[in-house]
Amino acid sequence: MARENGDGAVTHPVGMSILDPSVNYPRNCWYVAATSDEVGRGLLARTVLGQPVVLYRLASGAVTALEDRCPHRSLPLSYGSLAGDEVVCGYHGMAFAADGRCVRVPSQEHVPYGARATSYAVREEPPFVWIWPGDPGRAELTDPPALPWLPRNSAAPTEQWLPPRNVGMNFALKPFWLCVCSWSLVFE
Ligand code: FES
Repeated sequence: MARENGDGAVTHPVGMSILDPSVNYPRNCWYVAATSDEVGRGLLARTVLGQPVVLYRLASGAVTALEDRCPHRSLPLSYGSLAGDEVVCGYHGMAFAADGRCVRVPSQEHVPYGARATSYAVREEPPFVWIWPGDPGRAELTDPPALPWLPRNSAAPTEQWLPPRNVGMNFALKPFWLCVCSWSLVFE
């Protein structure tokens, strides 16, 4: 049975915390990261499977997701700003394209080889934005779960399925507990 350890983290008998990113979550599947109406032309920070993620909408309307950690000195990218479709880090100003590539470094002509933020495959199936935390090459092989009982227009979400802030959402949605994400039940 899960117990709280006093720091707010939930520990399990085997000594793992569900907030510990080393926990062996199933990664090759789609997880809800936000509702469609939450993602706009701003930087939205979320934690999914213990990993910090930043989501934003491109000028084209597509949604993208990057690890919320600058590869330079690890400042959360969500502390920075959006310049066009690029995220500009709030610490030293490195700029990252929607696919995570570093495209600009202030005060130097060349971008360091290999400098990039981790990017995630994203699918928007209103009313949700889904991300794939696992092998990106496998994301195309699977569709997010169909949820035909939910309205596609998320303009007026109900408390029943609204995600909490900064929590892997599959662990909070009661319908998902029962029919989509059974992993947390393994621990319970
Ligand atoms: S920490 Fe992001 S540019 Fe230095």
